[in-house]
Amino acid sequence: MSVRATCLTLCLTLCLTPPLGAQPRDRADRVADSVLKLMTLDEKVGQLVQMPGAWNQTGPAAPAGGEDQVRQGKVGSFLSIWGAAVTRHLQEIAVRETRLHVPLLFAMDVIHGWRTIFPVPLGEAASWDPAAAERSARVAATEGAAYGIHWTFAPMVDIARDARWGRVVEGSGEDPYLGAALAAARVRGFQNGPPNTTLMATVKHFAAYGAAEAGRDYNTAELSERTLWETYLPPYEAAVRAGAATVMASFNDIGGTPAHASRWLLQDVLRDRWRFRGLVVSDWAGLEELIPHGIAGTRAEAAVRAINAGIDVDMSDNVYATDLAAQVRAGRVTMTTIDSAVHRVLRAKAAFGLFENPYKYSDTTRERTAILTAANRATAREVARESIVLLRNEGGVLPLAKSLRSVAVIGPLADDPKVPLGSWNGAGQAQDVVTPLAGIKEALPNARVTVARGTPVDTPNTSGIAAAVQAAQGADAVILVLGERDDMSGEASSRASVELPGSQLELAQAVIRAARSATPAKPVVTVLMNGRPLAVPWLADSAGALVESWFLGVEHGHALADVLFGDALPVGKLPITFPRATGQLPIYYNHKNTGRPGDVTNHYTSRYLDLPWTPLFPFGYGLSYTTFSYGTPRVSSASVRNGDSVYVDADVTNTGKRAGVEVAQLYVHDSVASVTRPVRSLAGFQRVSLNPGETKRVRFALGPNALALYDLTMRRVVEPGAFTVFVGGDSDTQNAAHFTVTGDTLVLAPAPPRMR
Ligand code: BGC
Repeated sequence: MSVRATCLTLCLTLCLTPPLGAQPRDRADRVADSVLKLMTLDEKVGQLVQMPGAWNQTGPAAPAGGEDQVRQGKVGSFLSIWGAAVTRHLQEIAVRETRLHVPLLFAMDVIHGWRTIFPVPLGEAASWDPAAAERSARVAATEGAAYGIHWTFAPMVDIARDARWGRVVEGSGEDPYLGAALAAARVRGFQNGPPNTTLMATVKHFAAYGAAEAGRDYNTAELSERTLWETYLPPYEAAVRAGAATVMASFNDIGGTPAHASRWLLQDVLRDRWRFRGLVVSDWAGLEELIPHGIAGTRAEAAVRAINAGIDVDMSDNVYATDLAAQVRAGRVTMTTIDSAVHRVLRAKAAFGLFENPYKYSDTTRERTAILTAANRATAREVARESIVLLRNEGGVLPLAKSLRSVAVIGPLADDPKVPLGSWNGAGQAQDVVTPLAGIKEALPNARVTVARGTPVDTPNTSGIAAAVQAAQGADAVILVLGERDDMSGEASSRASVELPGSQLELAQAVIRAARSATPAKPVVTVLMNGRPLAVPWLADSAGALVESWFLGVEHGHALADVLFGDALPVGKLPITFPRATGQLPIYYNHKNTGRPGDVTNHYTSRYLDLPWTPLFPFGYGLSYTTFSYGTPRVSSASVRNGDSVYVDADVTNTGKRAGVEVAQLYVHDSVASVTRPVRSLAGFQRVSLNPGETKRVRFALGPNALALYDLTMRRVVEPGAFTVFVGGDSDTQNAAHFTVTGDTLVLAPAPPRMR
């Protein structure tokens, strides 16, 4: 194989990835310059300190002594303080009572909505709709900004392939392509909007926090550089390229260095390779944790490691506050390093216009009027509908008829108003939530709706099952609502088992068997609520209909009822593989083929003795109320010159009796390469609306970037040779076409900096 890097290829690299950081110095820079010049070392360090709020009788406030710290210029930003009045009060202290009148920034985890709570990010990812994710981030930003918040710690873009990890709920699932598209959309949604409604977005957690070994939160991420670059880094890069203002370091270590001390991650990759100009913030106590990580003996050493690696702002643990200035005076940290970090903080404040009007986000009227509006709720309902995934619909149980005279709604989650809020629910309130039961009742005003809890969520107790069976027997149809509580996923909420918790499977089995054996048999729909993939093989085989509803936010019940009763179509597709059992984890569609791919006829292949190696539901999977068929894809040319794009066309037909929306997916596989390649990788997706009998053609463009790999020397290249493309409704599709790339190896980018 001949290898030739040409000038053309370099140009191509630049065209494909517009350089960041090339922005000219602007007004915000000049404001930052002028303020920085006046600062003492202690005032500079103050700007790098982020203090957490505390809670008193009236709401969030500065912790004891916090206001004095502000007065002395020892705080640059707060986290977890919100509200127009309290932010104005603290801002007044900063602006009127400090020597240099530098305003504060208020930061907060505005993750999937502020008061109008949207689906959890993993659920929203199931919409495969970046425009929806952008809209939901826009609403969240508008509401958060009305509460005095400038800065959100979102989007979380960590790729996760082990469903035991609780924080899988906060991201977009397992795939770098889908993850990158959603990451960029969310950054745009948070940051682009009318004045005083935007938040600085934070790409977190940099990097590879989702690769925590064994799915145990905060655990080490043990990865090759190739896997990092191919799988884990693309969503962070996409978010940075979308203009994210800040990046948060991750708790884990990679290759022997915790991210909070990694010059490789924070300088070589983030600033040098990606030209990131924004702020880098630590995660909660991430500096202090360099001590248990074992790379710093003291807080002073931790401060030196972190600032020299590239952590600008120290969240919550006061390490910079107590130790940084002394280390500068001792010569272990240069003033240039401090100045660069402080300049970035000041620049962010100036970019918001806070030096001119520090109170622009602290507006008590907006706080009352911009929140939980009918329009925001309507957007939340739309996004929630789109996030629902239909996993099974045996015999067309769904949609249920609105003429049903009676329904039994069964299960511990059916009427819990807190659970649909999911983790990180901002100012979300249970009183705002439409529960599944409330949504069903509203959709069926004339039906008799009986309710039975059946079992608790996660403690084994079968005493309520008999009553639940009775309720099922007395109704025309049964809706079971099962899964996990909101606090069973999220930070520090990993589970060693991803099976249905407690006695819920027994409940489902008893109810479904009873409904089946009734005359006539009763339709049963099982609705799952959860923040991670669940291993539910029995339900996948035996439930009449199985619906994945995640935690959909305040409009959960409405959106669910819309889909169950056919006012909306199920359009969601899984953004993450569902396993048959915990023992299959980690499991993901874009794995390597291995030398001995699983083969049922051959014992000595990559498989289990006690379970198939295949997933319960593959990535990209989701049914509709109609059916779709795909024509064999056609490529624009069977032989493509390296560097040219190839177009892939496929006909999608609605073969059922109802209108439907399908997310057509394109996967690509490099058949023979210099390094092993995934069996397939998502390279495009498109939504297609089709009436019964209608056919539409989808067209995907595959540019060099979609065909590229990191070669043995880690250059990003497109190698000549055979490629296969697949077009279909999930990652299992066998609907394939082939083409060959001819010519020399094309170098798209030089090797990234090696890990150090
Ligand atoms: C989490 C972050 C979050 C931060 C601030 C940490 O424990 O890991 O994701 O942004 O707290 O609340």
